Amino acid sequence: MGSALATGAAALLPGTHRMAAAAPLPRTLTAGPATVPLVGGKWPDTKVWAYDGVVPGPEMRVVARNHLDQPTTVHWHGIRLPNAMDGVPDLTQEAIPPGGEFTYEFEAVDAGSFWYHPHVNSTEQQDRGLAGALIVEEREPVRVDRDITWVIDDWVLRETAQIDESFGHPMQLSHGGRTGNTVTVNGRIPIEFAVKSGERIRLRLINVANARTFGLKFGSLKPQIIALDGQPVTPHEPAGARVVVAAAQRVDLIIDMSGKPGEKIQVTDDYFSRQTYEFITISHDEGKLLRESPLDAPIALPANPLPEPVVDDQAQRELIVLSGGAMGRMPPGVDNFIQQGQYWFLNDLPDKGREGKPIFAVPKGRTCIIGMVNETGWEHPMHLHGFAFRVLSRNGKPNMRGEWLDTVLVGRGETVEVAFVADNPGDWMFHCHVLEHMAAGMSCFLSVA
Ligand code: C2O
Ligand code: CU
Repeated sequence: MGSALATGAAALLPGTHRMAAAAPLPRTLTAGPATVPLVGGKWPDTKVWAYDGVVPGPEMRVVARNHLDQPTTVHWHGIRLPNAMDGVPDLTQEAIPPGGEFTYEFEAVDAGSFWYHPHVNSTEQQDRGLAGALIVEEREPVRVDRDITWVIDDWVLRETAQIDESFGHPMQLSHGGRTGNTVTVNGRIPIEFAVKSGERIRLRLINVANARTFGLKFGSLKPQIIALDGQPVTPHEPAGARVVVAAAQRVDLIIDMSGKPGEKIQVTDDYFSRQTYEFITISHDEGKLLRESPLDAPIALPANPLPEPVVDDQAQRELIVLSGGAMGRMPPGVDNFIQQGQYWFLNDLPDKGREGKPIFAVPKGRTCIIGMVNETGWEHPMHLHGFAFRVLSRNGKPNMRGEWLDTVLVGRGETVEVAFVADNPGDWMFHCHVLEHMAAGMSCFLSVA
């Protein structure tokens, strides 16, 4: 589906995304007619359609080099790929040792907004800045004036502007994770985003924070959500005019900049109502309008080739109960785990308690329905590797929109049901994307064979 792959950085060095910097050049991939010697010998060349004139299309590879003094990997969050490319140490590959490298190679089957990050010592590695956007462009993108990515993060900074190194502090592990005192967009504290009146912008929000959920309000602007976690969704306005992006989630918006020339519009984050703050100012150029009335062009994206789950009695139904954490239900007999800093449990066991065994197995090709029941005092963005799932219901109420996600926010006391077709064999992680919760036990894998 996707036709071009653009990654921020090939080597594993701290991200250098900057708001002011030009967007990275996409690697182009041109689909067109070509002739190739399929048969060879005396036979004429065959007319085909090809990417960049060759069949099969050019290989896309990323060589990840480790210049850290600790092992690492790269996980391609949300990308449906072969299990061996999934970047999970000890499950899909050996971690890349300091000085080592590993070549990741996969086809981008879905167009959309994805991202990449390490999967080793995540509370530290991702927090220190290892994360980047991976945008797979549509063959026929929707018409916009600009396509902008905001990689949103938060940091715990000291007065010296250096990162506070309290990674994995028990308080962060057992409560809401590591939330920072400084929010950045593309690696800078956001101040102003300059637009032209009448401009149509596709805005890709990617939350790479360890733990924080953002809830952005765009003042008098009327954003339309066109994709969630990279997967197209029927365009709609966000509930309560607030765009919620939990840790690891992505939201693609279409925004018509309807302010008058010179007008400034405050974007605020009021997800935590007592800590509302100004996120960024959208500032309309003083000059003339780009256009009088909104661009008259469709904004719905073409669907990705996802296998449709069949929700009938052939489907495999699994229940996963989330428990533990501060102020939550503690399953019986877990004191020794708590002493080891494992505070969170899936079906009464922390990750370590499962001793390398999957939480369940699914036969390849079968529809799997997972019901998640949150018995903790916190919300959890639950992420499944390797698949996109449809959200079937919340608290027993059918979810009419049926959006596809790879990370679903399960609120306090909430029950969420999702379904996917287990079409890709391998061991796939399923974990909370609050990295401190993952590190403290809220993690497991399921096995598809
Ligand atoms: Cu962003 Cu285990 O994943
Ligand atoms: Cu969690």
